[in-house]
Amino acid sequence: MTVSEIKKQFLEVFGDNGEELRVFASPGRVNLIGEHIDYCGGPVMPAALTMKTTLVARKRNDDILRLKATDLDIIVETKISDAESLKGKLKWGDYQLGVALELIKDGYEVCGCDLLYDDTVPHGGGLSSSAAIEVSTALCFATLANEAKGIDKKIDMIEMALISQRAEHNFVGVKCGIMDQFASAMGKADHAIHLNCSTLDYEHIPLNLGAHKLVLTNTNVKHSLGSSKYNERRGECEEGLAALKTALPGATCLADITEEQFNEHSYLIENETTRKRIKHVVGECARVKKSAEELKKGNLAEFGKLMNLSHDSLQYDYEVTCPELDFVATAGRKIDGVLGIRMTGAGFGGCTVAIISDDAVDTYIETVGKAYIEKFGHEASFYVTEIGDGGMEIL
Ligand code: GLA
Repeated sequence: MTVSEIKKQFLEVFGDNGEELRVFASPGRVNLIGEHIDYCGGPVMPAALTMKTTLVARKRNDDILRLKATDLDIIVETKISDAESLKGKLKWGDYQLGVALELIKDGYEVCGCDLLYDDTVPHGGGLSSSAAIEVSTALCFATLANEAKGIDKKIDMIEMALISQRAEHNFVGVKCGIMDQFASAMGKADHAIHLNCSTLDYEHIPLNLGAHKLVLTNTNVKHSLGSSKYNERRGECEEGLAALKTALPGATCLADITEEQFNEHSYLIENETTRKRIKHVVGECARVKKSAEELKKGNLAEFGKLMNLSHDSLQYDYEVTCPELDFVATAGRKIDGVLGIRMTGAGFGGCTVAIISDDAVDTYIETVGKAYIEKFGHEASFYVTEIGDGGMEIL
């Protein structure tokens, strides 16, 4: 929907009282490489998509929040002071209420609002539709709270990312890393973000794709099993770190441990599954470092190989893929012009990301699409993506 269509729907749903409508937007993300290592302090390389959440908001004069999405019939309504009691009880609206509560903890006076959301990021596709909702909401509430107090300062988008991450931890119950919210808040058109998740230092690396496209393939398997398995993986990483620290006391996170150190001390991790998980983490950290170098040199072919290795590691060692993701990755690699392909995001469903030469994109979509439906009986979706900007108010 266009912004004016969303505004029109807003007025139909919430009525027109002559007050100003404000518009905020924040994107989903694709992670190019560096999977399941943000919560281990590792480096990651996401990029913001042009698929996004657009939020039309209007301030109220009381402490009531009314939330609606353009594709949902329900309206969630609560007093801000009652938001905490709705934890775990809502079918929709957790991200928004979680963000409101975290902003309040940080001293923002969140005001009552009517809010209408329009999402173009596919839900459950591993492209961070949740971060898009969180960051746009945080930016909206913080902007309105500052204005009400007469504070005239630019919103710190890294702060919005951190608040959004806390909303996931404390209200939604997923102990996610910072990657998704950071990418949604800090993305830059045609650039990847090379982010150090220990320090939050980052650089934007130009994505010079030349005669290539970034193609996402959505398995249309929703990663519903994901959240419990996600927290399980985090636990395994903590267990592995504790074992390695007996020999490497200086390591504060798994990203501090090199592949050589891991090879020397891996025997300290008794559980074989945990050992495989840590192998993935240290290997993936090294691959991201290498990827940043290759991308800066414009060496897409080498970067593609690293993407393939990343997928293999997520499939065999970290075990967060699924048959559909593996099928797409395997089928894609057989096609000339596919430089690299891997799952992106939390896994257990969702999307792959591939770098494909312009003249092979149609063949890829046709071949993989046909083989996929034959194998699984349902369609995959394909998106030839563009890399967009991070969250902002649309004036
Ligand atoms: C989810 C989380 C991120 C990250 C990825 C896996 O998207 O929200 O923090 O851990 O999974 O890389």
